[in-house]
Amino acid sequence: MDKTRRYGPATTALHVERGTTHERENSPPLFLTSSFRFANAAQAQAVFAGEEAGNLYSRFTNPTVDLFAARVAAMENAEYALATATGMAAVTTVMLSFLSAGEHLVLSRSVFGSTVNIANTLLARMNIGVTRVPLSDLSAWERAITPATRMFLLETPANPTLEMVDLAALAAIARRHGILMVVDNVFCTPCLQRPLELGADLVIHSATKYMDGQGRVLGGVIAGDRQRLTEHVYPFLRNTGASLSPFNAWVLLKGLETLALRMERHCASAARVAAHLAARPELAGAVHYPGLPDHPQRELAARQMSAFGGILCLDLGSRERAHRFMDALQLVIITANLGDSRTLTTHPATTTHAKLTPADRLEAGITDGLVRLSIGLEDVEDILEDLDCALTQL
Ligand SMILES: Cc1ncc(COP(=O)(O)O)c(C=O)c1O
Repeated sequence: MDKTRRYGPATTALHVERGTTHERENSPPLFLTSSFRFANAAQAQAVFAGEEAGNLYSRFTNPTVDLFAARVAAMENAEYALATATGMAAVTTVMLSFLSAGEHLVLSRSVFGSTVNIANTLLARMNIGVTRVPLSDLSAWERAITPATRMFLLETPANPTLEMVDLAALAAIARRHGILMVVDNVFCTPCLQRPLELGADLVIHSATKYMDGQGRVLGGVIAGDRQRLTEHVYPFLRNTGASLSPFNAWVLLKGLETLALRMERHCASAARVAAHLAARPELAGAVHYPGLPDHPQRELAARQMSAFGGILCLDLGSRERAHRFMDALQLVIITANLGDSRTLTTHPATTTHAKLTPADRLEAGITDGLVRLSIGLEDVEDILEDLDCALTQL
């Protein structure tokens, strides 16, 4: 690669390298080892002291894990990245690396259920204040700021409602107040949206989702500037052990190589499914997808995302109807995951967001009738037929 050139995410995922071993392998090797050997005791001492570069122990660094992080960093147009064991390890690591007792987090009302649970339990126990705000309401973010506010944390589009926020405008508010802005970019991946280019400070991912893309392993990543990550995040990861396993990193490297191609298909099929379902008279106004012409934030999505994503939601009016629809599906799989090669469905109110209070769920727009569909890579006609058949049985 020409180091002076900026390549696109598809090229980057294939070509960012950290050198080959003496075997001159063409594809990234798997360093499935917990620790690394030293030539002698003096070298062990020097590496531990940081006087000599080198791997020590895979909780600290591992070449396979480091290559995965380096490729994500390049794809996100970030200076640096660190990989974590899961997406939730990335969320928790960011919170605990940058927030201390007495400080304050402004959190979007529309985030993954476990992120809310951490804010309500762990952060509360540590005396870190949390204010939850409507994601798209910029003035609510600004009003929530106190002298103790250190961080904004959000997903856009949010899981599962697909609500979005103007990233550049929110980043301007964060910058004005000296607040760290963290974006969970799971629904988009760097192929569709690069929050750092719009002013965010850190991007996090559940690599479990589209980056793996075949529902096989868990992983996470945090991308941003090198100094912030090496000073604050690396010591936390190294000491707590929330780091990614080398095997999972190797699997995720395979996933990254096809990510851009898969995202094109996920997005094209999701757009087709959304338009097809929205055309059914009984679903008028019940299909949520940023690419639909009547989506209230379509213009914003078109501005900050290069495509509208692979996920859509249907509001079927009640839990009973949502469950009946899901149970009638033959091809689409009921599971608590997204971003898989197979089309998946989830009922957020009774699964991923079940631990939220009913009031919190409603505030976040997660109604009892809401069904999330993560559109896979099947022949789209087969997906449409399965959905149509299940709807007919309602
Ligand atoms: C937006 C978002 N962030 C974080 C996570 C957590 O990721 P993981 O399951 O890899 O811990 C999820 C999981 O569904 C998610 O959807």
